[in-house]
Amino acid sequence: MSKNSYRNSSPAKLVRPLVRELHAYVPGEQPKVSGLIKLNTNENPYPPSPKVLLATRAAVDGRLRLYPNPTAQSLREQLATLHGCSAEQIIIGNGSDELLALGIRAFVEPATIQQPTPKEASKSRVQYFSPSYSLYPVLAETHGATTRAVPLLNDFGLPTVSQLRRGKLWDFQAALTFITTPNAPSGRGYSTQELDALCATMKGIVVLDEAYVDFAHENASDLALKHPHVIVSRTFSKAYSLCFQRVGYWIGHPELIAALHRIRDSYNVNGLGQIAASATLKDLPYYRRNFRRVIDSRARLTRELTGLGWEVLPSQTNFILARPPGPPAQEWLERLRQKKILVRWFSSPNLASYLRITIGSESEVDTLLKVVRSMLGSKSAR
Ligand SMILES: Cc1ncc(COP(=O)(O)O)c(C=O)c1O
Repeated sequence: MSKNSYRNSSPAKLVRPLVRELHAYVPGEQPKVSGLIKLNTNENPYPPSPKVLLATRAAVDGRLRLYPNPTAQSLREQLATLHGCSAEQIIIGNGSDELLALGIRAFVEPATIQQPTPKEASKSRVQYFSPSYSLYPVLAETHGATTRAVPLLNDFGLPTVSQLRRGKLWDFQAALTFITTPNAPSGRGYSTQELDALCATMKGIVVLDEAYVDFAHENASDLALKHPHVIVSRTFSKAYSLCFQRVGYWIGHPELIAALHRIRDSYNVNGLGQIAASATLKDLPYYRRNFRRVIDSRARLTRELTGLGWEVLPSQTNFILARPPGPPAQEWLERLRQKKILVRWFSSPNLASYLRITIGSESEVDTLLKVVRSMLGSKSAR
């Protein structure tokens, strides 16, 4: 019998309608072709520290047959020291994406009531700004929660509390609110002061998603230690060159963190990931030098593209959102791809005229600029 002898019977009807109809998250492409310059998924252009590679390699031995530490205890203790809190205020996830999903499951009721009162509706509501990380609505819908996307200001700034009150769309009682800070995909940074003012008015849980914060002027981790309903989400993926290992963490009130521990998989963080993240924390100066390099390249790319007629939004992340001159952004995406440079384009109306470009290494930025100059037929093309 052939392996594919299913005949005509499709098992699709066995899948929950909610899942069948879901608009699944679309990750940036991970191409198999070699020689491409990948500026499409906000990966770090620099490798992990040599000490992290050594520690990870040294752990590839007979231990692989054992389950890892179920709570990532020593990593949590290191992070607690780093953030000036206790290990009970930290949970590690299989990437911060896992924690975003766990947070929804722990804090938001699935929407089962036909005609909910406003209070009941808030209990099932996941709220976030638009644009922000497009995974939030997918996770919320998977859980059967309702979503509310509230527009950022035209320059992707955070509305003030009084603007939100006037706008009437913002739900101050929402069970869970995600704030991406600095914002993705715009790169716009927010001050701790404005985040604090907003958090102080909220009745439900607020998650400050600081995936890119190491490239920003300031971080808001203290808000997770100040407000019992505020959680800060961090990841080793971007700034710490560890996407492959999938390690993220949340900082928050011990009672909220305990709730998340109750529902996570027993061994949610793989052993090599725990070892790599732990070794990362022992070599922070190496990473701080890389943040500086990324920030310097960001300034150079912004300056040069602006000189070539692009509109580049100020960024506090390891990517820029930039509107190219001339042909539509989608055409630029294709033409750059033909030149072996991958960037990201989003089809939503408020983003469709932009490209999101990850800050690559110095030489990748050189190549990008050279290609852009030649595409523009600029006299300065080298
Ligand atoms: C805003 C934001 N939050 C969270 C994540 C997830 O990061 P990870 O699951 O790799 O920790 C990403 C990844 O692209 C992101 O852009």
